[in-house]
Amino acid sequence: MTDAVNDIPPEVTDDVERLRSELRHHAYLYYHEARPEIGDAEYDDLFRQLQALEAQYPALESADSPTMRVGAPPQDKFETVEHVAPLLSLDSSEKSEDFVRFHDRVCRALGDGVTPRYILEPKLDGASIELVYEDGVLARAVTRGNGQQGEGVTENIRTIPTVPLRLRTDTRPAPRLLALRGEVMMYISDFADFNARLAEAGVEPYASPRNSAAGSIRQLDSRVTASRKLDVLVYDVLAVEGASFASDIAGVEAIREWGFRVPERIQTARTVDEVLEYHARYEGERDQLDYEIDGVVIKLDDLAARRAMGATSHHPRWAMALKFAPRQEVTVIEKIDIQVGRTGVLTPVAWLRPVVVGGVTVSRASLHNREELRRKDLREGDTVRIQRAGDVIPQVVEVIEHHDDRAEPFEMPGRCPVCDTEVYQDGPRTVCPNRFGCSAQLKGRIIHFGSRAALDIEGLGEETANLMVDRALVTRLAELFDVTPEQLMELDGFGEKSATALVQAIASKRTPDLNRFLIALGIPEVGVTVARTLAERFGSFGAIRSATAEELVAIDGIGPRMSEAITGFFADERNALAVDALLARGVEPTTVEVASLDLPELGTAVFTGAIPVPRVVAETAWRSVGGSTSGSVSKKTAFVVAGDKAGSKLAKAEKLGVEVLDFDQFLERLEGHGGSIDGGSA
Ligand code: IVH
Repeated sequence: MTDAVNDIPPEVTDDVERLRSELRHHAYLYYHEARPEIGDAEYDDLFRQLQALEAQYPALESADSPTMRVGAPPQDKFETVEHVAPLLSLDSSEKSEDFVRFHDRVCRALGDGVTPRYILEPKLDGASIELVYEDGVLARAVTRGNGQQGEGVTENIRTIPTVPLRLRTDTRPAPRLLALRGEVMMYISDFADFNARLAEAGVEPYASPRNSAAGSIRQLDSRVTASRKLDVLVYDVLAVEGASFASDIAGVEAIREWGFRVPERIQTARTVDEVLEYHARYEGERDQLDYEIDGVVIKLDDLAARRAMGATSHHPRWAMALKFAPRQEVTVIEKIDIQVGRTGVLTPVAWLRPVVVGGVTVSRASLHNREELRRKDLREGDTVRIQRAGDVIPQVVEVIEHHDDRAEPFEMPGRCPVCDTEVYQDGPRTVCPNRFGCSAQLKGRIIHFGSRAALDIEGLGEETANLMVDRALVTRLAELFDVTPEQLMELDGFGEKSATALVQAIASKRTPDLNRFLIALGIPEVGVTVARTLAERFGSFGAIRSATAEELVAIDGIGPRMSEAITGFFADERNALAVDALLARGVEPTTVEVASLDLPELGTAVFTGAIPVPRVVAETAWRSVGGSTSGSVSKKTAFVVAGDKAGSKLAKAEKLGVEVLDFDQFLERLEGHGGSIDGGSA
């Protein structure tokens, strides 16, 4: 390559800068102020001039150029990225009394006669995101993840036109570092259009604007994200270096000036009445809004007072969400039938006359089990009240009307509706015992195997799993690894590309993380935490498989019931065959280094109550010096670290005579073993 920099005539550099600045200005007027000064054609013309110059002089390309929103090559996975400061959640309640109590606590914390000032905002129901700007330029965007770290989705966020690639500095300079928190939203009207297009294309629609927003920013190909209409509303300065604010309102004002959209109708209040009035007004107007909100957020405005109040490991003490009552609608149960899940449980399901509840069409609701059906006396043909709270599966609340010639009560069948095996009762549950012969259970196992917490196989959803089983491509779990692209191409909805992609996605999971593999097997009682514990303690799949019940109960966090479920699972010959079949196909779970034996075993710590750092930070610190941690207290617990408002775990520790430390004592002990807390809090 020639030395391009030296070949660039100065007037070209000027032109490029001018075009960029004009394009930014016009985009801002268009998206933020809805008062464009030029038409689309003129904008496109400027855009193309800039593109042409950048193509001619590649040395002038710059990541924050308006031409650089779309076009990054697809990724194969997202990077895990640490947040600049933890993205905490909010304490929330539907009851105004809880707000009154919150207010009292705030007043007490502020002390004599000081009236708090609150900032009030809508609680946006989208996908939380962290935006980080370095020297005014968008450096990265990260999903909320577990609050400490999330997925780097920068390329996707760049495609959203209302997110500045570079801060506006017309009215205030760019700080050295700026981390903001906001919400990615899909407007209800855009969501409706988008879902209609999906339906036309025969693709399963998204359940809600929130799911759709979250799904859109988790696309590995940013061109897909670019094709979705998204917005980002920013409501919080998470961290800033090189500027400072005394109040939240001042922060929001700065956010606005730096070129972001902020939520509508932000307001301040000083009294309980004002807050409740705001809540009531927003709730009343909720259905007229083109975006989903599920409550209002109330935050103490004064940032020094916030610091004084602090946070628990989950949420700040200076803020809370006052949620709206779940949305209810009335509809008719058209039919009740049975669904059989992966563990053989028969669940009665109500098919409803489709009804829109808060922007989402609901046509199905789980009726849970026999007892629930009987208690609510739900029958086909009944008019019922249903509700949807957040994205939780819709529930039938109650019958409000029925015909005189009402249908007979629904009876749970005596035989499995799928495989015709006689069912049995297990408490309120009705179960099909045909673990290995019932196609519904196989479908459920495949779906679970590929689900996010398990092997996370992209493209292996409910529909595909059903087809695979119905067409007998897969007659046992392990055969998933035998499926060929040619076979998939015979299924509805598969082309060469998608078929190859799925086969590759499955093959790429041949060396799964040990803990994920344990989850994927669907061992009863083994969820995310137990799987992790088992992996860390035993290190290899072989060791777990041959562990005895005694070895298992000796581990903190594993009780007799769990250890029996685990040994029972592996002892069952059919499970053993199913596992062997997977291993025979080259599936090889990773091995994990077992906590080194050179380190002293410092014993198991349990954290409870509100401690000053996120619990995971404290746990990780203790484990890093050779200790272990658990979520529950038992005789085997070495000590309990109790923060504010510690409850039953503290009581249990006292009862069992387990040592109790406060957080400072814990720090001393940790430091005594050469450890430290480096996570820090916000
Ligand atoms: S403030 C530490 N303000 O609600 C305070 N959160 O559980 C952090 N959310 O996932 C949040 N609208 O993404 C705040 N106006 C608003 C919000 C808001 C929506 C979300 C947030 C988080 C959840 C809180």
